[in-house]
Amino acid sequence: MLKRLQQCCPASLVLAWAFLLAAFLLGRAYAVSGRVCERSGYCSAVPGGIKGYIGPIDSALELKEAVEATHFRKELIIWADERVADGAQGLWRLREAGYAHVLGVLEDAVQCNRLRQVFQPWLETEGPVTCTTYATADDKGQNYPFRFKYFARGVGMPPWWKKFFTAGRAVALGYNVLAVDLDVVVLDDWYWRVKQPPLSSYHMLSQNEWGLNLNCGFMYFQNASSTGPVMWVLYDHMHRIVRWSEDDSYLAARSPGRYAKHRMLPLTEQGMLQDCVHSCAVGRPLYPALLSLWGDDKEAYGSLNTTEHELYRAIHEPIHQVWQPNQVHNLTAPLSDSVCEHYMASNCSAPLDHVTISTVTLKMPHSGGQYPDSLGGFPFNRTLGPLTAAYRQAYADLGVPLPPDPEDPVTEAAARATPPEKFGYLAVHQGDQNCNGCWAEGTWWMVGRHGWWHRHLLQPGQRNKLGMGHVWANLPRGDFVKHNIFQWNGHWSWRIAARVAQSRTRIYVANQAFGGRSYEDLPELRHTVAYAPGVVHAGLTKEQFVRAAQGLAQVAVVLGAIAAWPALPCDTDWALTPQAKAAGLQRPLKHSIPWPHINTGHVAMPFGDTLESLQCEWPGFGHFDCLANRQPRGQDVGRGMMAVEFHHLRNTTGAAPSPDTTILLGAAAGPPPPAGSSSFTAVPHAELERLNSPLLLQRLQRETMPVLWLDRLLELPDLAPGSPAGDTYKRWLDRCQALHYFTLKPEQRQNW
Ligand SMILES: *[C@@H]1O[C@H](CO)[C@@H](O)[C@H](O)[C@H]1NC(C)=O
Ligand SMILES: *[C@@H]1O[C@H](CO)[C@@H](O)[C@H](O)[C@H]1NC(C)=O
Ligand SMILES: *[C@@H]1O[C@H](CO)[C@@H](O)[C@H](O)[C@H]1NC(C)=O
Ligand SMILES: *[C@@H]1O[C@H](CO)[C@@H](O)[C@H](O)[C@H]1NC(C)=O
Ligand SMILES: *[C@@H]1O[C@H](CO)[C@@H](O)[C@H](O)[C@H]1NC(C)=O
Ligand SMILES: *[C@@H]1O[C@H](CO)[C@@H](O)[C@H](O)[C@H]1NC(C)=O
Repeated sequence: MLKRLQQCCPASLVLAWAFLLAAFLLGRAYAVSGRVCERSGYCSAVPGGIKGYIGPIDSALELKEAVEATHFRKELIIWADERVADGAQGLWRLREAGYAHVLGVLEDAVQCNRLRQVFQPWLETEGPVTCTTYATADDKGQNYPFRFKYFARGVGMPPWWKKFFTAGRAVALGYNVLAVDLDVVVLDDWYWRVKQPPLSSYHMLSQNEWGLNLNCGFMYFQNASSTGPVMWVLYDHMHRIVRWSEDDSYLAARSPGRYAKHRMLPLTEQGMLQDCVHSCAVGRPLYPALLSLWGDDKEAYGSLNTTEHELYRAIHEPIHQVWQPNQVHNLTAPLSDSVCEHYMASNCSAPLDHVTISTVTLKMPHSGGQYPDSLGGFPFNRTLGPLTAAYRQAYADLGVPLPPDPEDPVTEAAARATPPEKFGYLAVHQGDQNCNGCWAEGTWWMVGRHGWWHRHLLQPGQRNKLGMGHVWANLPRGDFVKHNIFQWNGHWSWRIAARVAQSRTRIYVANQAFGGRSYEDLPELRHTVAYAPGVVHAGLTKEQFVRAAQGLAQVAVVLGAIAAWPALPCDTDWALTPQAKAAGLQRPLKHSIPWPHINTGHVAMPFGDTLESLQCEWPGFGHFDCLANRQPRGQDVGRGMMAVEFHHLRNTTGAAPSPDTTILLGAAAGPPPPAGSSSFTAVPHAELERLNSPLLLQRLQRETMPVLWLDRLLELPDLAPGSPAGDTYKRWLDRCQALHYFTLKPEQRQNW
């Protein structure tokens, strides 16, 4: 039956559909007022706000042209990625806030042009898109080993280095740079926060990872001197890797039995930036990466007359001595009204008279010509290779003075005389209740999941309590969870998604072609089956909920439709935290933000247009095999849709249950049971198909994405292996873990 339904569409209908699609994709672009940028006035997403640049930024000349055409009041937001789809959503989130001074780095000109096309409807009103590239091959067309000029071999991922190589050169040229991953969101004005005390006194801010470790998915650089320590951090973090990638003779010589055998450099830009920040904290170049490169190879440390433990201690103790993890800053209004440090426990309406920022002073490091063995020695070949020389040249070409070379004894006095700069950590986790710095930038786990990113659901007095958000760590299950998080909290543009997919039906995971497949390999499914509102209710146990999903999956397979996985009512007992369950809260629950009673750790993810209509998503359905199909033609298992995707489908098509849109079950099934029923109706699958296929064909000819509603909990007990639909269902049941949740081992179903 799958086949029959997929062959349904005569050409005239395809045309009508194409017309609808065009109307949707080309719909009027409009400029929004009341954007968050207005608080500080850093609104660059206006006509003439920036000039825009599309092209390479390999040379200093090209880079200067790009940053000159993109900056707004000396500010730049820089990202690098290899995925246009994610780039487009991330860029949209920034432009929604009014920030168009965004310089993206993608892989090639084709990607950049795609990105620009996605934003075509907004270019006139919100200004151009800047998209840049680095050469992946040399002048003779020979590919670079790692698709990036400076690397003799692969270390980490090219976009990671490109992001901070670009940021570093922009900072050298005197720009302030927000360097971000694309999973960030602007919730209130960043610049308003960062351009007033206390943050205006910090030259470098970074999201904290844990302890004194940093996360480089969110970093900001302001007023950094081109000859100062922040500049050196940006310069040297990659310099180190370029050197080791072309000549790791020192590493191998000390560790002949271990490192010399594998010669792997399991290093990232994040770790390297951290090593450099830590170097500045103590004022001398440190190489903590040696510890990860040599691991527990006693021979390596022995050759330096030290041990792994001693080297660790020698490097880290001085860092801890100088760090001030709890530096307190007093606040006055209006900032004191726009901060919060207790996003889980309070509604943040009370002003704070002080905040705490984990702080360290960055001093221009210098070796004084000494590289003692107790700190790991001098870990490079003193003779520079051609790639290291080229890297140095890229900075020299900028034509600005650069930091003193910490290796050269002659520059010691200059280094010691360099004014220090200030570093601070944001989003510092303080137990589950508190977060220092989250009022400027906070993570999904610490802030977002409690409702603070659902900007449209916040009370007016709550809207300005945090600046930016970053989806990072402790995420719920699922293969598309970063996308889902933005869908749940309303920071996902379905319109951008449709422009990227060049189709409105392809925006749903069920219809997306993954792994380089083309749309021809994956016929789109346009019809969806769903339980009518109220059929899946808060009184169902988890067992009944999973059984309801199985019944829906059976119907979807028999009718060749997408299964719209049911939302979990947020009042459901198993959607709540153990504490809330124990407290026996009165139902129905009246939701407000924060919603600490909902188990947002892993079980229930709230979404909705209003607090009154709040629903929750069970992330169990977020796995690839519950949503999409790995096989060509897409018929191997069923296809599913997250509740939040279905919410959008309903919202855009106005689909609503009615006698005409409800699945027929035959006279034997009787009328639907009363609301709140937990009993399942059994229907023979051939009967279901016979009664509904003709109606379905008619609807597919009239409607873009028809929804077929089930008016009761259903199951098809006779759908057994042996028939095509029975086999498909069996495969789906086996592969989609959520569908066979209760046969998983207990350790496989912890936390969801
Ligand atoms: C950066 O410059 C601005 C404007 O001149 C000033 O208000 C701020 O204090 C400076 N911050 C730092 C860290 O130098
Ligand atoms: C350092 O680099 C030079 C030039 O490439 C090379 O001749 C020398 O062998 C290297 N040193 C070591 C210890 O490998
Ligand atoms: C090695 O280290 C030990 C203890 O740290 C010290 O006593 C000894 O003199 C060192 N040996 C050499 C050759 O540096
Ligand atoms: C901050 O406020 C506290 C209490 O009002 C006061 O004791 C302290 O001196 C203030 N600190 C600064 C740096 O102004
Ligand atoms: C926040 O809580 C306080 C007291 O707990 C209450 O007075 C206030 O109205 C609440 N504000 C919002 C915006 O819910
Ligand atoms: C879609 O959602 C928006 C905002 O939540 C709402 O205003 C609109 O009425 C909805 N449209 C439909 C067709 O339900």
